[in-house]
Amino acid sequence: MNKINIGLIGFGTVGSGVVEFLHTKKSYIANKYNTEFTVKTVCDLYITPDKVKKFGKIKTTKKYQEILEDPEIDVVVELIGGLHPAKEIVFGSLNNGKDVVTANKALISHHGKELFELAQQNGLRLFFESAVMAGVPTIKTVTEGIIGNEFNGIYGILNGTCNYILTQMSDNNCSFPDALKKAQEKGYAEADPTLDISGGDTAHKLLIMAYLAFGKFIKFNEIYTEGISQISQNDIEYAERLGLTIKLLAIAKKVNNTIEARVHPTLIPKEHPLASINSVFNGMLLDSDMLGKVLLSGEGAGKMAAASGVVSDLINLAHNPAQPILSNLTYENKALTVKKIDDVISKFYLRLLAVNKPGVLSKITGILGKHDISINSVTQKEQDAKSPVPVIMLTDSTSERNMRNALKEIEKMAVIKSKPVAIRMETLQ
Ligand code: HSE
Repeated sequence: MNKINIGLIGFGTVGSGVVEFLHTKKSYIANKYNTEFTVKTVCDLYITPDKVKKFGKIKTTKKYQEILEDPEIDVVVELIGGLHPAKEIVFGSLNNGKDVVTANKALISHHGKELFELAQQNGLRLFFESAVMAGVPTIKTVTEGIIGNEFNGIYGILNGTCNYILTQMSDNNCSFPDALKKAQEKGYAEADPTLDISGGDTAHKLLIMAYLAFGKFIKFNEIYTEGISQISQNDIEYAERLGLTIKLLAIAKKVNNTIEARVHPTLIPKEHPLASINSVFNGMLLDSDMLGKVLLSGEGAGKMAAASGVVSDLINLAHNPAQPILSNLTYENKALTVKKIDDVISKFYLRLLAVNKPGVLSKITGILGKHDISINSVTQKEQDAKSPVPVIMLTDSTSERNMRNALKEIEKMAVIKSKPVAIRMETLQ
């Protein structure tokens, strides 16, 4: 029987889930994997012995150094999230000869490369399956499952909180703040939910996947990121009538020697499989050259969903004498450069609030034409001549630069009564 002692740092939603998971499945794991995991110490600033007593004899501490310096601890499980002191904990653990399991996407996205190199130098393992889509095996798929293939693109719904909010707004006519409150109550959101809503959490996850799939370490600020707070129920409804669904999509595409990486609300066809990934479920479409398209989906946030990925990592770690994926993690494709957002090409949905009188549309289409933007369809939503009316336009593919310049001009028109809304579209073919 393999015996592994764990020091767990961070007893929040995920940390407490891991302790509960290991406790509940102790005999199943021991019988099936011939491994006995013991959570020796739990560290958290707010920990008290009574919080862990139902899980057996577990030592508690508020000082993570006690775990890093304990020679009996084999693996450090870091679940506090954020950059500090997570960075010190993970570097410190690898420098003290301990394997590490973490779910920390911010840490891996900022320091992954150095950490993988350090783990490799020290002959240690660093696993982080739950950093992206919780227990759904995205990391394992890209680093071990689909190998030998080159990736053309990654399209992901990677934030459970945002997907839950958009689904609540669309299916239950729920307001944005009410949907966010529900997501927080269910334990999907980060401690600071602005990371979820702003798209930052999704960008962290995209950065990790892009690195693993393309071998290009994109910096966080090189990923164009827009969150979901500007999405209105009107847009959800108008899109629906056009056969489209709004998702916060993470997109990374490789074209020749450039890579584009962006996170923003995106309209996708209602019949595409990603469109039916709803609520806290996450989805990732991987486009590879030999295998073709692969879709992964499952709960991407929440206590047991995240704990499941951490426990899978622990069991894998107990069985792999050397991490098979490390060379894969340190591979770099130096020829790739990151495309500037201005040069990215998309189709757009535009919602303009315009005065309802003859000649207005021709002025708007004139500006779009001047900026080389071709229009696919135009719909006016209300007929009331007295008030401004919403006008919905779908465009053909155009560059971000052209669209931004056109919108600046349109916004200044006297007949336009509020800031134009522009949402990118992806056909996902
Ligand atoms: N806050 C994240 C989400 C949790 O909503 O998806 C998992 O990373």
